[in-house]
Amino acid sequence: MNILEIKNLVKDFGGLRAVDTLSLSIEKGQILGLIGPNGAGKSTAFNCIAGVYPPTGGEIYFAGEKINRRKPWDLCKKGLARTFQIVKPFSSKSVLYNVMVGSFATTDKTAVAEEKALKVLKLLYFEDKKDERAGNLTIGERKRLEIARALATEPKILLLDEVMAGLRPAEVDEMVQIIQKLRDQGITIFVIEHIMRAIMALSDRIVVIHFGKKIAEGSPQEVASDENVIKAYLGDEYVVS
Ligand SMILES: Nc1ncnc2c1ncn2[C@@H]1O[C@H](COP(=O)(O)OP(=O)(O)O)[C@@H](O)[C@H]1O
Ligand SMILES: [Mg+2]
Repeated sequence: MNILEIKNLVKDFGGLRAVDTLSLSIEKGQILGLIGPNGAGKSTAFNCIAGVYPPTGGEIYFAGEKINRRKPWDLCKKGLARTFQIVKPFSSKSVLYNVMVGSFATTDKTAVAEEKALKVLKLLYFEDKKDERAGNLTIGERKRLEIARALATEPKILLLDEVMAGLRPAEVDEMVQIIQKLRDQGITIFVIEHIMRAIMALSDRIVVIHFGKKIAEGSPQEVASDENVIKAYLGDEYVVS
């Protein structure tokens, strides 16, 4: 079953067509990668799906239900959560507090929210930072907090927008393992990422967009050896290993 399906999605900003008749779908339990050059429209596509921007055209279905023009909070309660490329925690508050903000999507009881938040922190090997002020975290830790906050909403599908940017190689490896663990727990993952070795290792399928349009789709191997993809994005020096 497709948990998410997009048909001919269009998003215009004034005269600029950021997303151009994009169609794609994700099966439940899969990891779909979305790649493309800077400005290709990846984050905009995520914003349309998550209800941040109303689409100019096309249709978005989540678990079979049309969700065009639904608000982010409403979608979050239905089980669609996203992280933002620019991470903005409540800096003066603790890690635990920030994650509990996510928990309140599915409960209004503080004790339950805390219990859910602690469970997520444990899953992400992040318990030891629960009392740290979010403002004191490193970039890598902030990305982890962002994922924790999204996970605390108990999503069916998680949209990750460049959660590995700025991480050290060892942190990237750890993040890949975390994302695989989430998928093993039944969460469907839609991931935007620039770090090729990570997206190649994670994705069941990859969609490549350029100027808002899909230029390729397939397994990581298929996409990495596609001539159009190499020209538009990977560069001539990229060699499939
Ligand atoms: N809120 C906005 N208002 C106007 N233009 C935008 C807005 N958000 C993105 N854009 C433009 O849309 C295009 C796609 O941007 P974006 O989706 O952020 O690309 P990507 O995430 O692939 O790097 C870019 O040309 C960008 O400048
Ligand atoms: Mg982006």
